[in-house]
Amino acid sequence: MTHSTLKTQNPNLILVIGGAGYIGSHIVADLLAEGHDITVFDNLSTGFKENIPRGVNFYHGDILNKGDLKGVFQQPFDCVMHFAALKAAGDSMLNPSKYAEHNISGSINILDAMLAANVKNIIFSSSAAVYGAPEYLPVDEKHPTHPENFYGYTKLAIEDILNWYAKLKNINFAALRYFNAAGYDALGRVSQLERNPANLLPIVMEIASGMRKKMQIFGDDYDTHDGTGVRDYIHVNDLATAHIKAMNFIMENNQSLTVNLATGEGFSVLDVIKAVEKITGQKINYEIVARRLGDPAELIAQALRADDILKWKAKHSSLENILETMWRVYRIHRQN
Ligand code: WQD
Repeated sequence: MTHSTLKTQNPNLILVIGGAGYIGSHIVADLLAEGHDITVFDNLSTGFKENIPRGVNFYHGDILNKGDLKGVFQQPFDCVMHFAALKAAGDSMLNPSKYAEHNISGSINILDAMLAANVKNIIFSSSAAVYGAPEYLPVDEKHPTHPENFYGYTKLAIEDILNWYAKLKNINFAALRYFNAAGYDALGRVSQLERNPANLLPIVMEIASGMRKKMQIFGDDYDTHDGTGVRDYIHVNDLATAHIKAMNFIMENNQSLTVNLATGEGFSVLDVIKAVEKITGQKINYEIVARRLGDPAELIAQALRADDILKWKAKHSSLENILETMWRVYRIHRQN
């Protein structure tokens, strides 16, 4: 176990926006273990109050409400981490204005509130969705950015705005492009299930725990080893480590960066299902249906820049560890 429980010499004052959600709460757990002073700002639309540990300040607010942001920035902060966003790619194609408002306008509100309070450092949750259909694999940061869905476009637009604010207003940012985030905290510090998940791993886990009867596999005729879609799954504990390293980097070097966070290894939908059946002892019922619009056959990435600049490598992201840590949480909710 590599999670640090050492108290840091120089604790930072950190505002974690969206810190009650699935990914944010994992980062909060590690920041707290490092001895930082943390405030979570969250509207609890998808997050849970139970995800906020003792010792962390909580501000119930919305990034679309400038008064809420002004309120939380009455306290001093060294760095902001921004996880608050809508993230369903399919929904973003049906309701683009909702995504533009929450993701793009919400991020601009955060930046403006930061600047008004003279806070200069921000870590931003970006996404592999900025790349769109891969032109080559593994995807590196030089790969062209042509998002295939509006959600991915919002993340790219925010990256562009961050780049402009860095030039015009001297902020430092880290844009962290996650591939398929998955897993649960190995130390059991986060235990709330995501509501209405749309991603593969939580759906398979819901079937193993009896919360759902059957799933659909979106296509088995891709050019992959078994015909089903291949993705690069990255454990949330690895994401957490990268956030802390990125925060230290931008603050120490007064510099910004954009990096992929991924493992370089891919697993198909059927690989995942077989591994879940082995780990849980449960049969996963599925049917093969048509391909989902906009899904690439394979998406894996190189995180060489994160390794080079941040000295970061995925350490907790074997498929087995991702699924075992998820099963520890899902089995508690088991209904069969
Ligand atoms: C994985 C694989 C599906 C569900 C999405 C976002 C992306 C990023 C991560 C945030 C694919 C298949 C899935 C199901 C299936 N999010 N699948 N049946 O689409 O790679 O990425 O989450 O930044 O922006 O688009 O993840 O988990 O939905 O799908 O067969 O019920 O599982 O076709 O091959 P995806 P996913």
